[in-house]
Amino acid sequence: MTTRNPAGWLRSVNRLGAIDLQSAFFQSLGRNGRSCSSCHEMGAAWSITPREIQARFDATDGTDPLFRPNDGSNSPRADVSTTQARRRAYSMLLRRGVIRVGIGIPEDAEFVLAAVDDPYGYASAKELSLFRRPLPSTNLAFLTGVMWDGRETTTAFLPPMHAGQSNAVLTESLIRQVTSATVGHAEGLDPTPEQIADIVAFETGLTTAQVRDDVAGYLNADDALGGPRILANQRFHIGINDTLGADPTGAAFDPRAMDLFAGWSRQPERGRVQAQRASIARGERLFNEMPIDIGGVAGLNDALGVTSIRGTCSTCHNAPNVGNHTVTLPLDLGLTDASRRTPDMPLYTLVRKSNGDRVQTTDPGLALITGKWADIGRFKGPILRGLAARPPYFHNGFAPSLEKVVEFYDTRFEIDMSEREKRDMAAFLRAL
Ligand code: HEC
Ligand code: HEC
Repeated sequence: MTTRNPAGWLRSVNRLGAIDLQSAFFQSLGRNGRSCSSCHEMGAAWSITPREIQARFDATDGTDPLFRPNDGSNSPRADVSTTQARRRAYSMLLRRGVIRVGIGIPEDAEFVLAAVDDPYGYASAKELSLFRRPLPSTNLAFLTGVMWDGRETTTAFLPPMHAGQSNAVLTESLIRQVTSATVGHAEGLDPTPEQIADIVAFETGLTTAQVRDDVAGYLNADDALGGPRILANQRFHIGINDTLGADPTGAAFDPRAMDLFAGWSRQPERGRVQAQRASIARGERLFNEMPIDIGGVAGLNDALGVTSIRGTCSTCHNAPNVGNHTVTLPLDLGLTDASRRTPDMPLYTLVRKSNGDRVQTTDPGLALITGKWADIGRFKGPILRGLAARPPYFHNGFAPSLEKVVEFYDTRFEIDMSEREKRDMAAFLRAL
């Protein structure tokens, strides 16, 4: 099925045939009226966007099932008695498209919560308020970790795994995720085995990508390889194209992880359509080849013991034509640092038990699952398909547009991109 977005058209296809709108995915399973599709909408690449959330609020005075205080509002104790109160209570969801995920500090963590600055007066060591974007419930066959912090991943995935082929560990993780989502987001009882099987079969059958760019036209025309049908046949296994050469097939790392639009770089640059195609192709080359000195990234620089790694976007986004990381590798880009905190986000002060070190963060990420100091602020790099349909970006919705994503990287790693390079990169990301 094809849906419109500001850059063009997005398409979702289902391996099993037509997309079954009767699936339990679309049915209310709990007690608050929510279904999976309350937060995972086809037109938003199976996430949700502030534009559409605001429209839903306006159409229902903020009573659509999305607007529920358990995790939709800034605090579960927020006043939701009037439309005006609801507009305040759900301001994070309305403006940033984020859900409040509540996770406490593990008992045996290497750190304690020394101070909380929560503008909504709720968070504590028992339950930190973590404002996170719904990840797309599509293209799941390529996942190497489930959730931003990988917390629903039951064990490290084992090779080999091919797109469309069932993988026991991934399936097990997704089964767990369905139960957590039904009990948590939908405030229901445990779903039945039939409902779980239906939902997992539904979501794992989906493949989604941008299929048409308003200027460049069909993204699979004239030797280009965009769109969901080609993606559904993308070769994949855990560890494919591993950056450190650990691909189980023994193949060496190829930084040209994205290879969708090379065909468009060979065309004469005549007219508006050709110019846009050339720009997308240049953006893809930049993604694969533009040098980035990667420094200060926890999970990478500290793990390898090197202060700077000469890499590219594809060092981290190495899954061929998909763009996540092909082994579970959550990283800290610095998005949760106090320096990037905006006044609408809570700020947590963590103190390390062993030596009194302090750090301030808006979301400890993986550290809340492992209890490890070194894991503070680490999140997975998500799949980079269907991006144009689902702003804002990063786990906390920090970047309202793909231009701002590119801007972030340019500043963060002092790349010094030209204006044209930034435009090309954003055009490429929009075409995914
Ligand atoms: C209230 C909104 C909401 C509802 C309802 C909801 N989800 Fe989610 N979903 C989220 C958020 C937010 C995340 C990311 C949370 C995180 O990583 O901490 C997420 C993550 C996921 C992921 C992980 C994808 C990945 O890349 O790791 C899957 C799969 C998923 N949801 C499927 C479902 C299913 C199936 C249902 C229905 C049973 C459902 N969700 C209901 C908000 C929701
Ligand atoms: C050091 C590893 C690393 C490098 C280099 C890197 N990324 Fe990322 N990328 C990540 C991680 C990790 C995330 C998720 C961060 C978060 O949300 O906390 C991410 C997120 C993103 C997102 C947001 C996706 C979404 O669903 O919200 C986009 C888009 C993106 N990266 C594009 C790029 C581009 C373009 C480049 C090159 C200019 C690049 N990345 C370089 C690791 C990296």
